[in-house]
Amino acid sequence: MTKIRSVVLGCGSYLPEQVVTNAQLAARIDTSDEWIVQRTGIRERHIAAEGEFTSHLAIKAAQAALTDAGLDAQSIDLIVLATSTPDNTFPATAVAVQHALGINHGAAFDLQAVCSGFVFALATADNFLRTGAFKRALVIGAETFSRILDWNDRGTCVLFGDGAGAVVLEAQEQPGQAATDRGIVTTHLRSDGRHKAKLFVDGGPSSTQTVGHLRMEGREVFKHAVGMITDVIVDAFEATGLNADRIDWFVPHQANKRIIDASAHKLHIAPEKVVLTVDRHGNTSAASIPLALSVARKDGRIKRGDMVLLEAMGGGFTWGSALVRW
Ligand code: UT7
Repeated sequence: MTKIRSVVLGCGSYLPEQVVTNAQLAARIDTSDEWIVQRTGIRERHIAAEGEFTSHLAIKAAQAALTDAGLDAQSIDLIVLATSTPDNTFPATAVAVQHALGINHGAAFDLQAVCSGFVFALATADNFLRTGAFKRALVIGAETFSRILDWNDRGTCVLFGDGAGAVVLEAQEQPGQAATDRGIVTTHLRSDGRHKAKLFVDGGPSSTQTVGHLRMEGREVFKHAVGMITDVIVDAFEATGLNADRIDWFVPHQANKRIIDASAHKLHIAPEKVVLTVDRHGNTSAASIPLALSVARKDGRIKRGDMVLLEAMGGGFTWGSALVRW
């Protein structure tokens, strides 16, 4: 029986011009290139310029995704933007993107699931498209984490970067076979608020009326990460009957190379199938997966028909996986 699937028509990304290397950070705080590379795999990250907002990065990523898809912005009727660093407390950064693209029909809203934001946004858009509520969606992950970092906390400020990525999805009828259908085949989302104090921002409109800074018990997050990531990927395999051998590309959230390597190893995913950008981008939270997708599309790795496995885990905790046939 045929099935409506959300098929990826294009993807794009944008990184701010300024690159900050580990050596540059080591000149300002008590850290070293060696420590950062060994513990995280990060070598450099991009940092937004003064006056460059999350919406500005998101607009450029969205435009690149539309160009890649060969589509006019007017054909988009849904924008879901994942961010934890919106331009303003409200309205949603998504409406700034919608306005900049000249769209004033359909719906646009933000979604907050920190580093898992892109997977949550993809699942949300997928559900709207499969019910027929919308036809074409822009799913965006965009962040300016540099604005919420405590630049004196070496345990966190070396880890994050700014950037944005986007995909265009279209509701299309497919034959209804998980193993061959194009589009999003399955998504699995989880959260557990018992862990909320392990990774949070110590400010907000209702609590302190300040923006606040990111606080993280890194070792605690690390301890849970691999188990949560692999569990939610096993859920995706069980739901579809697929397995690691059937995956062409593993595009994980880029927080730490050690977490990515350990997850791939535990799942028996071959290292050459893993798309890694954490060395050049750092952890860009909700933007990291679409940024990595964009890199692997542009360099020719991900091709039409490839099975792509996405996963993320972050503050909340939240975590999730998605299987997408490109
Ligand atoms: O995207 C959302 C999810 N977030 C994550 O997945 C992050 C998960 N956590 C991690 O990636 C790792 O825990 C970190 C990279 C944050 C830290 O690595 P670690 O191996 O867990 O190190 P640690 O926190 O146990 O710290 C080890 C040592 C400490 O010194 P002592 O107590 O052993 O003397 C830290 O003070 O490293 C020290 N340290 C640093 N040294 C140099 C912490 N940050 C730095 C630094 N430079 N930037």
